[in-house]
Amino acid sequence: MIPDQWYAVVESKEVPEGKPVAFRRLGQDLVFWRDTSASGERKIVVMRDHCPHRQAKLSKGKLVEGNIECPFHGFLFDHAGACQLIPANGKNGPRPKIFQTKVYPSREAYGFIWVWKGEPRKEYPPIPFFEGLEEYQYGSFHKEWATHYTRAIENQLDLAHLPFVHADTIGRGNKTLVNGPYSILEDESIYVWFDFQRDHGQVAIRPAELDKPDKSWQLSFKFPNIWMLRPSSRIQLFAAFAPIDDEKTMIYIRSYYKATKYQLVNVIISKITALFSRKILSQDEEIVVTQTPKQGGLDCGDKYIPADRPILLYHTHRDELIRAGEWEKLSPAVSV
Ligand code: FES
Ligand SMILES: [Fe+2]
Repeated sequence: MIPDQWYAVVESKEVPEGKPVAFRRLGQDLVFWRDTSASGERKIVVMRDHCPHRQAKLSKGKLVEGNIECPFHGFLFDHAGACQLIPANGKNGPRPKIFQTKVYPSREAYGFIWVWKGEPRKEYPPIPFFEGLEEYQYGSFHKEWATHYTRAIENQLDLAHLPFVHADTIGRGNKTLVNGPYSILEDESIYVWFDFQRDHGQVAIRPAELDKPDKSWQLSFKFPNIWMLRPSSRIQLFAAFAPIDDEKTMIYIRSYYKATKYQLVNVIISKITALFSRKILSQDEEIVVTQTPKQGGLDCGDKYIPADRPILLYHTHRDELIRAGEWEKLSPAVSV
């Protein structure tokens, strides 16, 4: 996984007020809860779902005045993971430091909870998100896929599969030939312009032969885990790929649409686009979970064609970011 990044991991609405909830994300069992104590103001807290005492799951416990209480022996932990009470030792008894739990830096923004994968730091980069969605509303759903998140991301950058996997939905029309695509990496994002054509015997134009189109991008991916497709100015499809572990990914799909002034029409648009997106996603899932190995990458054995350029850009930059993270860890030792 790329270190030192904000990952969208669960939707805000999945974490209610007043009780802890468990999610496995980023290869860890985590407990999410909201600190509603006076100083907390619904502050989101993400902790290792594991009590340091006798290793029960904290998510089975409850919230008590801005702390989470372990269900086993009632130890209390605050939003910073510090143990505030060991009932068996007494209210004024000792609370040794070994009972500190691990807390992950987290934020809440754009209807998601974001977890920082990496060492805590004084200042964090901004949360990555797409701009210009203020006038839009969205309907959303999520679906777990039995594959590594890289495969799920590759799939959303894969153009050549459309007329085959989605022959009766977004790939209708037998346009199997892919010109380009023109794709660039800029500001930690990949932007893609594509052009599908029916094959009349012409040869696809290679990416290097294309100039930058003078319209805005149609497909984009922002590192480390969000994606957007803009089929029209009214509808924008969004996905977040939340890594569960090496073999599972939770995919969050949102259909953003330009709201009309009629609420009923908005609800209908939202329902139809969600149904459509569900169908497309299940068409993808059926094939992607059969890919081996389960994790994609430049050295996984896949062989690319020019139409796969966005996938190549993704993996090249992902590898660069991972290497940069490793170098950062090593560099203090090297400079001595
Ligand atoms: S296991 Fe959590 S308080 Fe004992
Ligand atoms: Fe697809």
